[in-house]
Amino acid sequence: MKSFISKRVASVPPSGIRRYFDISATMPDVISLGIGEPDFVTPDPILEEGIASLRRGDTHYTSNSGTYELRCALSEHLNQLYGVSYDPMDELLITVGVSEAMYLGLTAIIDPGDEVIVPQPCFVAYAPEVVFAGGTALTIGCKVEHEFQVTGAEIEARVTPRTKAILIGYPNNPTGAVLTPERMAEIAAVAERHNLLVISDEIYDRLVYGVQHTCFAALPGMKERTLLLGGFSKDYAMTGWRIGYIAAPKEVLGAARKVHQYTIMSAPTTAQAAALFALKHGEAHVQQMVEEYDRRRRLLVHELNMLGLDCFEPRGAFYAFPSVGKTGMNDETFADQLLAEEHVAVIPGNAFGDGGAGYVRMCYAQSYSKIEEALERIHTFMRRHG
Ligand SMILES: Cc1ncc(COP(=O)(O)O)c(C=O)c1O
Repeated sequence: MKSFISKRVASVPPSGIRRYFDISATMPDVISLGIGEPDFVTPDPILEEGIASLRRGDTHYTSNSGTYELRCALSEHLNQLYGVSYDPMDELLITVGVSEAMYLGLTAIIDPGDEVIVPQPCFVAYAPEVVFAGGTALTIGCKVEHEFQVTGAEIEARVTPRTKAILIGYPNNPTGAVLTPERMAEIAAVAERHNLLVISDEIYDRLVYGVQHTCFAALPGMKERTLLLGGFSKDYAMTGWRIGYIAAPKEVLGAARKVHQYTIMSAPTTAQAAALFALKHGEAHVQQMVEEYDRRRRLLVHELNMLGLDCFEPRGAFYAFPSVGKTGMNDETFADQLLAEEHVAVIPGNAFGDGGAGYVRMCYAQSYSKIEEALERIHTFMRRHG
């Protein structure tokens, strides 16, 4: 029978991550270093503000762009942290997570056949979203020698007359890489030379360890070329609330808002109230979580290196990305066997695209004691296979 599914959608394979969640859900004593979300519950005062907003009767749509208060607070927040100034009236839009922000940004700028350069390993949704928007993803496999940062030269080598944008995500999922100022300047120079837009997913902007995050839009000349995507899921442990944003030059933002108006209407009202509270009063909670992630990060990275799973030092997000090369297994076999034999779930690097094969992603948004126990199990596994 003929398939009714569009070629665009049919061409995208299912996510390589899901299988591991499905298998581990059937095992009683599994320790999951697989899932990429905070183990923390949303800090209590933020949660209470969401409940209070419901009790106040704020159960209606908001402005399509998101509440004016939230946009103003966000504008102030970005200015204070990164020295970049966005007009809350027409340069900021509140979305249903960075997921929607990405969809809007790509839909707003892509014509059929336009190319977007996507450095990988990266968040599993980037290349599929480019394809869903009608574009072509030109991938680049980043290298451990460059600590998984993409270089300007690697990007420039992929540019063609059809290239419209570069889609980057740092701090990076799955590698934990952050960009040095030199690499950022190289990317900015390529964008300028070839008149490209830069879509910068900075969802992990606050989760950095011993380095400072630089917002791509804050680089000289880059605000006019950047679609900045950010959100509350990771920094404030609010994945289920579904709040993100897109900040962009007026013309692009207007186009994104049009798509948002017709598809979503407005981001969840309760969650917008909670996000506003998070921006105004959540800083101490962010700092506490960052400290705890850092403690876990140091433990995990140190121990992995001791066990022969070579791991470069991740400086952001909450992932370690060790090589499994010394075991003689590929990343999928390693992940399958570790799950089957020791009940520890990790994700094979090839699920994150080019450059990921031979590595696995381990998420340390998991309690310190669980990480210790997972490491003991990995130790047992390595004695058998190392
Ligand atoms: C790099 C990156 N971007 C975007 C998202 C989606 O986030 P949100 O919950 O804001 O839709 C994730 C979630 O894992 C992510 O890791």
